[in-house]
Amino acid sequence: MLEQALQYASQNRARFLNELNDFLAIPSISTDPEHQADMQKAAEWAAGQLRSVGMQHVQIMPTGGHPVVYGEWLNAPGEAPTVMIYGHYDVQPPDPLELWITPPFQAAVRGDHLYARGSADMKGQVIASLKAVEAVMKTGDLPINLKWLIEGEEEIGSEHLDDFIKNHKELLACDFCLNMDAGILGAEQPSITVGLRGLAYFELRVDGPSKDLHSGLYGGTVHNPAQALAELIAGMHDRNGKVTLPGFYERVRKLSKKEHQDFARLPISGKEIKNQTGVRALWGEPQFTPAERLGARPTLEVNGLLSGFTGVGSKTVLPAWAMAKISCRLVPDQTPEETTRQMRKYLKENAPKDIKWELTYLHGAGAALTGTDNVGVKALSKALETVWGRKPCFPREGGSIGVVVQLQKHVGVESVLSGFALPDCDAHSPNEKLHLPTWYKGIDALIYFIHNLKA
Ligand code: BES
Ligand code: MN
Repeated sequence: MLEQALQYASQNRARFLNELNDFLAIPSISTDPEHQADMQKAAEWAAGQLRSVGMQHVQIMPTGGHPVVYGEWLNAPGEAPTVMIYGHYDVQPPDPLELWITPPFQAAVRGDHLYARGSADMKGQVIASLKAVEAVMKTGDLPINLKWLIEGEEEIGSEHLDDFIKNHKELLACDFCLNMDAGILGAEQPSITVGLRGLAYFELRVDGPSKDLHSGLYGGTVHNPAQALAELIAGMHDRNGKVTLPGFYERVRKLSKKEHQDFARLPISGKEIKNQTGVRALWGEPQFTPAERLGARPTLEVNGLLSGFTGVGSKTVLPAWAMAKISCRLVPDQTPEETTRQMRKYLKENAPKDIKWELTYLHGAGAALTGTDNVGVKALSKALETVWGRKPCFPREGGSIGVVVQLQKHVGVESVLSGFALPDCDAHSPNEKLHLPTWYKGIDALIYFIHNLKA
């Protein structure tokens, strides 16, 4: 049965890729209201896949936001475990569009890579899971029970998924959740992620004069909102790269000696980060290694800035307002709620009296550490070792995935975090890509994983 499933997967690679291309052609950008219809389309496409693979009770279920796609197959014999497979059908916006070599929603193969928004993060991972299950089901009996939870709000903090999970605890009960949204450390280095950072995302708006002003007629008498915002932002870090929001580090767990050692063993190097990003030098808290700064330290980032005149040529203007999108990556035991209070306190204490500021909390996610002592981690670890010929390592990653904490909290289950997106996949960037050799190995690994879970 195992051999036939692996053979089925290798014989159907071209079709798997075609189906992934169809999925990638739907611009399911969750943050953009203009793409509402595409969100529905992507949900329906995913539901269609679940049905064609052989899942039962496939439904598109409403939430307060974008819908959840659910499907199950609960006919495994005896004491077989029930595995939830998580995925998200939404993607990040593709801009800046002009930097894409081929259009973001028209997948193109160049060399070993498939280029498209969502190829790595995470439509490619959803298809890998679906196709591994398909390969097993078309060539024999599925030895485990499955529940699928495919959401449409991961890239905007999984805000409405929290209530959905809270209201469907029975439906979602399982032994553990397989979550392939966390990626792999290298093409030759399999990994299972054991920690994710959380997030708190804000929009900060500063208002000054009632309209844009002539900078000669008013400059020197009116506080420029762009400058006031820049001053506020500049004050959010000290010279050593520490965040200055009051109380920001109070709940940050200190790393033990053992944890420092674990981080030191990970094959994550500052040099590689430099190469991937093209920066002249790395930046951040000097007393922590780059791997620790990514996995175990909180941050504050400016995602974007907007104010005044930014067109061609020049215009002498003192803008009426300025806006910044600011987010914090959080680590245990920080929470988005407390971080929001700290941000407000910082603004109250530091905003100049001559401007008006308004802070909007957009969304957030909790930081997660996952237990590794479960059948899911064992089965996947063994599967990765079989396919890669090398034991996986267990990194903590810098990204966030809302569902992990939500499942811990409401259903009491751990997530097994992995995936086949490489660190240089350019997720959220132009020319996002999926390394196809790793993806094909990943499908095989998931077939072994299912096999390893046999009761
Ligand atoms: N796949 C990523 C999360 C990720 C990235 C995990 C790298 C591990 C390593 C996910 O799709 C993502 O980008 N999540 C958002 C969530 C946020 C909007 C709450 C993120 O991290 O920015
Ligand atoms: Mn993402």
